[in-house]
Amino acid sequence: MHDKTGQTTRDGIRIYGAADFGGMRAAGRVAAEILDGVATLVKPGATTAAIDDCIREEIARRGVVSATIGYKGYKHASCISVNHVVCHGIPGSKILTDGDILNIDVTVIVDGWFGDTSRMYVAGTLGRKAARLIDVTHEGLMRGIAAVKPGNTFGDIGHAIQSYVEANRMSVVRDFCGHGLGRVFHAPPNVLHYGRPGAGPVLEEGMFFTIEPMVNLGRPETKVLADDWTAVTRDKSLSAQFEHSVGVTATGCEIFTLSPAGRFHPTWG
Ligand code: MF3
Ligand code: CO
Ligand code: CO
Repeated sequence: MHDKTGQTTRDGIRIYGAADFGGMRAAGRVAAEILDGVATLVKPGATTAAIDDCIREEIARRGVVSATIGYKGYKHASCISVNHVVCHGIPGSKILTDGDILNIDVTVIVDGWFGDTSRMYVAGTLGRKAARLIDVTHEGLMRGIAAVKPGNTFGDIGHAIQSYVEANRMSVVRDFCGHGLGRVFHAPPNVLHYGRPGAGPVLEEGMFFTIEPMVNLGRPETKVLADDWTAVTRDKSLSAQFEHSVGVTATGCEIFTLSPAGRFHPTWG
């Protein structure tokens, strides 16, 4: 199948060629390196605006482009989502305190390719419940990724995540999802983090997308604050998220946003 611009698609999802993996590898690596570099900035007393300023400077220093600055009016180089903020937290004057957990999400454009990744950090001491939430969210993402191979479906990915998270008595956010990406930031399909085995489009070699489950300690419902960006848990329970950009290969998938420093999880490295 081909779309109006002559691109190969399946179920409306663009199929990229073997040479395109190199572009995604480069973009994903830059995004992951930037997240590796911010770990030392996350500590009690720091503001989220200061962390975002460093990310903005690092993006400029590397001569790449932020995908979020100017995106639908968003003005920042990252989203920083603290504690009960589910996603799209806006960096600002908020001062981190001991035990805060936060997701930092960075998307860069490198030679026209989008690299999108996020991970969890802790300011100071990691509490027991927060640690469990972070572990389950990370493992949920990795189980979703393990379901990525040609012939499986997007429903298989969602099911792998949901069944693991719910077996651990936590909940998967329904209001936000992963997305196709590549030469664009947000493309079809919506990558749901819940679902039924065999449901949804069939995965095919050359599909590029993100998997970015948000998991809550309490109920899954969210609401967006008056700033039109910040999504929070309705019950104020803690929320966590990890995000990788991946490409489907002949036998499985390639993760484009692996941490070169091995620091993807806050208790590693
Ligand atoms: N990086 C986010 C994602 O995972 C999107 C952020 S859009 C922004 O899709 F405008 F809020 F930055
Ligand atoms: Co994303
Ligand atoms: Co992201």
